[in-house]
Amino acid sequence: MITLDQVSKSFQNNSGEFKAIDAVTFTIQDHERFGIIGESGAGKSTLLRFINALETPDEGAVMVDGKNIHQLNKSALRLYQKQVAMIFQEFNLLNNKTVEENIRLPLELHAYPETIPMETVLDFVGLRDKRGQYPKDLSGGQKQRVGIARALITRPKILLCDEPTSALDLGTTKEIVDVLKKAHDTFGMTIVLVTHELEVIKELCTRAAILENGMLTDVIKIEPPKNKKSYSSYRKRALEVLSHGSD
Ligand SMILES: Nc1ncnc2c1ncn2[C@@H]1O[C@H](COP(=O)(O)OP(=O)(O)O)[C@@H](O)[C@H]1O
Ligand SMILES: [Mg+2]
Repeated sequence: MITLDQVSKSFQNNSGEFKAIDAVTFTIQDHERFGIIGESGAGKSTLLRFINALETPDEGAVMVDGKNIHQLNKSALRLYQKQVAMIFQEFNLLNNKTVEENIRLPLELHAYPETIPMETVLDFVGLRDKRGQYPKDLSGGQKQRVGIARALITRPKILLCDEPTSALDLGTTKEIVDVLKKAHDTFGMTIVLVTHELEVIKELCTRAAILENGMLTDVIKIEPPKNKKSYSSYRKRALEVLSHGSD
């Protein structure tokens, strides 16, 4: 269980100090698929970075399984961080490494207690035939699948996803959402997903926190989509926006 308890954080900008996160409290259950939504600058990434302790709140506590992760000693923190993996909007792959080398990278850097075999991971994300390729030869969706594989190989208990589909078109977004869903079905990790894309939240999450200007305004329960068509087609969306506007 992850609990953010009255966390706040200030940063400096041109006009002085401002509160990027303001007394936010919520709890995420084990194995949950939890969304954090809000506009750009709302503080979503900062909240996510609290959870893997890349960012420290000025006030409040982040409790994981009853422990304040910002008060762990160095070795306990390292152990905790090995249970948390992250995927990014811009994929964060190393261009001079192959698909397989990118996926194996975490294992080169640290010893993990439990890993998933490379062959299993490659099959899971459907990249077996691309294992020797370099990122420049991959599509956006394939790059994100490498990012997912690199996270899965460490068998994380918590998977943090920061705008994982925001650099992708609609069809590719669907493909990545499906891979994440399958990963959750198979491995049961807790997923915390940050995005401004409401359709992605609807497909993937069961609850979501709404963040506005660093403040939590709601935590909502999400109705699962009734059919597989919650992603409207590009044509339908274009018509809605361009020709049926209400004003
Ligand atoms: N390290 C930092 N230094 C200064 N300002 C920051 C830093 N990190 C984030 N911010 C600011 O805090 C606010 C929230 O940022 P962020 O959490 O990245 O929002 P989001 O992910 O919702 O777009 C933004 O105004 C951003 O510019
Ligand atoms: Mg962000």
